[in-house]
Amino acid sequence: MLKKQGRHISFHTPGHKRAGADITELSYSDSLASPNGVIREAECDLAKILGAEKSFILTDGSTSGVYAMLAALKAAGCRKIALPAFAHVSATRGCEILGLTPVVIPCGRECGIPLQPSLRGIERALDEADALFLVSPDYYGNFPPLRAAKELCAAAGKPFALDGAHGGHLHFTQLHAGKYADLWVDGVHKSLPALTQGAVVSAKTAEWAELLANSVKLFRTTSPSYPIMASVEYAVKYPRNEKIERAAEALKARLSAYPNADWTKLVLRFGNRADEAQRALEARGVYPEFNDGNYLMFYLSPCTKRRELNALERALKGLSRGEPTEVGAPEPYGDHGCLR
Ligand SMILES: Cc1ncc(COP(=O)(O)O)c(C=O)c1O
Repeated sequence: MLKKQGRHISFHTPGHKRAGADITELSYSDSLASPNGVIREAECDLAKILGAEKSFILTDGSTSGVYAMLAALKAAGCRKIALPAFAHVSATRGCEILGLTPVVIPCGRECGIPLQPSLRGIERALDEADALFLVSPDYYGNFPPLRAAKELCAAAGKPFALDGAHGGHLHFTQLHAGKYADLWVDGVHKSLPALTQGAVVSAKTAEWAELLANSVKLFRTTSPSYPIMASVEYAVKYPRNEKIERAAEALKARLSAYPNADWTKLVLRFGNRADEAQRALEARGVYPEFNDGNYLMFYLSPCTKRRELNALERALKGLSRGEPTEVGAPEPYGDHGCLR
C-alpha cells in the first residue's frame, strides 16, 4: 500500500498532513468498514493463521471484540451468558449495554489469585444460560478446561465464545482459542508486537461470521488507525520465538514462579513486600505489568530479549519474597486488568 503512495499532497484527514502510514481511506488504502483491497487480503491471511472462517481487524482493543462477540450472541437469540466471576469489565459492561443477563460462574482463589472456573461450575451455569463466555488465558496465565467446555457446549447446542485478550501469541499451539470457540478475540497488542489497541475478532463458521460482521460495526471507530491495522497484520505473522519461550520457562523454574501454563506471564509472589519489590525494581528501570498487592506480574512476548530476562533476574537478586497475603486481584478485573 505504501509503495503505491508516491507523490502525496494531502487534502484529507488526518490534520498533520504528512504522507506515510497514518492516512485515511483513500483510493489505494482500502477501508476497514468494507474491505476489498489490502485490508481484505490481510484479514484473509489472518483468518487462515487463526483457523477462522473470517477474522476482523480491530483498532479499538479486545474490548470492542468482546462487545462484538456478545452482540453476535444476542443476534443469535442468546439472552443469558455464563461468564466467570473474574471476567473483564468489557464482558460485564458489554452485557449491560446489550441488555444481556450474566450468569456468573463462581471462581475460587489461591493466595489471592482468581482461579479459572471448574468444569462442574461451568456446567451448572451453562444449564441456566444460552451461551458460554470464558477467558483464556487469564492475566495470571491460567486456562479454563477448554476441550471439556467445548464438548459441553456442543452437547447442549449452545455457543462458546472465548476472550483471548491475553492469548494472541498462542495460535501456534493447541491452547489457542480458535481451536475451541465459535467466536473469539485475540488481543494481539498484549503478547505480540502490535501497537496498543490492536486486536482481532474471529468466527469459526460462515453463520457466525455473518453475525459477527454485523455486530463488529456497532463498536468500531469510523476512523480506524492504519498504523494499528498494519501492526496487527505484522504481529499475527510474527514468527514464533522458541528460544525466548524456553529461556522464559527456565527462568520461571529458577525463580519458583507461579506455575502457570503460559510462558508470557511470569508471576512472582512477593506477598506483603510486593510494593517494596516494585519500587526496588523500578529504581533499576525494570517495570512489571502489574502489582496486585501480593504478586508482581512480568509480561513477556516473542520480542523479549534474552539480555532483558538476564537483567530481570539480576534485579530480583536479594529482593525479599515477603509473607503471603490474601490481598489480590479484584473481581471483576478493572479497566487495566487487576492493576492497582
Ligand atoms: C481478560 C481481558 N479481556 C479483555 C480486555 C480488554 O482488552 P483491551 O485493553 O485490548 O481492550 C482485557 C484488558 O486487560 C482483559 O484483561
